Amino acid sequence: MTAVSSDLESQLIDLKQSAQETIVAADTLEALEKLRIQYLGKKGEVSVILGSMGKLSPDDRPRMGNLANEVKTIIQTALETKKTKLQAAELEAQLESETLDVTMPGYGRPLGHKHPLSSTIDRILDIFVGLGYTVEEGLEIEEDYYNFEALNTPADHPARDMQDTFYLPDGRLLRTHTSSVQIHYMEDNDPPVRIVAPGRVYRRDTVDATHSAVFHQIEILAVDEDLTFTDLKGTVKTFLQEMFGDIPIRFRASYFPFTEPSAEVDVQWKGRWLEVMGCGMVDPNVFKSVGYNSETYTGFAAGLGVERFAMVLHQIDDIRRLYNSDLRFLRQF
Ligand code: DAH
Repeated sequence: MTAVSSDLESQLIDLKQSAQETIVAADTLEALEKLRIQYLGKKGEVSVILGSMGKLSPDDRPRMGNLANEVKTIIQTALETKKTKLQAAELEAQLESETLDVTMPGYGRPLGHKHPLSSTIDRILDIFVGLGYTVEEGLEIEEDYYNFEALNTPADHPARDMQDTFYLPDGRLLRTHTSSVQIHYMEDNDPPVRIVAPGRVYRRDTVDATHSAVFHQIEILAVDEDLTFTDLKGTVKTFLQEMFGDIPIRFRASYFPFTEPSAEVDVQWKGRWLEVMGCGMVDPNVFKSVGYNSETYTGFAAGLGVERFAMVLHQIDDIRRLYNSDLRFLRQF
């Protein structure tokens, strides 16, 4: 044996020893991959040794070749074994972290629902849409003209006192009723008209069980040739029947500047009459302000108090309950 070969031999034996130890100690798959490159890569330690075989004498070469291959196989096997172990450990850890305890109690996710005022509005709109009406929206900040003047209620008209108004510094106002939508719609559209317009309205009312400074109305307007008070009554009756079923209702003669004749409609509730809407035949002066020919066309209109409908539908005795966002109350609907 030459000096070169015995040197190579001890290198191989050291390598076998140290490689096995480091491989066993590797604690991640990445570290293991680095070791594989370090020992078996193209420029790895085993290759370097194999590369120096050329310096050996022909006698030593087969034996050293065998030894080198043996070391290589041992390192390969050690790497494989460790890889399998690390992979198994990794899987185990993953399964551990994803453990699902099917006996744990679930989380309740409470479902929200519509506020009784919104559901009342939806229901009223649905009925009128079913009768062929389309839904219109208006503005909450209005000009005097649309809220009063064009609705046959000029500045000195005593009916202005019926609806105490919130004015803005610029002279505009918070609409006191949804009747203003009638004017906007008729300015922009020719007859025939069938609209239903929900919205929020404002009045300087003292708040009590049946009054609020902010409340909701739904405006109805129908204009056509030959519409009569009978059509108005029939529409209102059909609507109330769909809404409440068979409860007693009555029409009571009343006054509004924008209708002639005018009426208020009451429904019987808790042993007394409760007013739920105003209505009437559109006054020819209203048609005049929007340029409709009142010789050819007639119309009827109505303004419904949404809160009143919600109170009857849900047996609510105080309007203020609808506004104070008390979940204990709202959850009942
Ligand atoms: N705008 C009236 C109010 O707020 C309600 C009303 C009455 C509307 C008669 C109408 C109507 O369209 O024809 O008191």
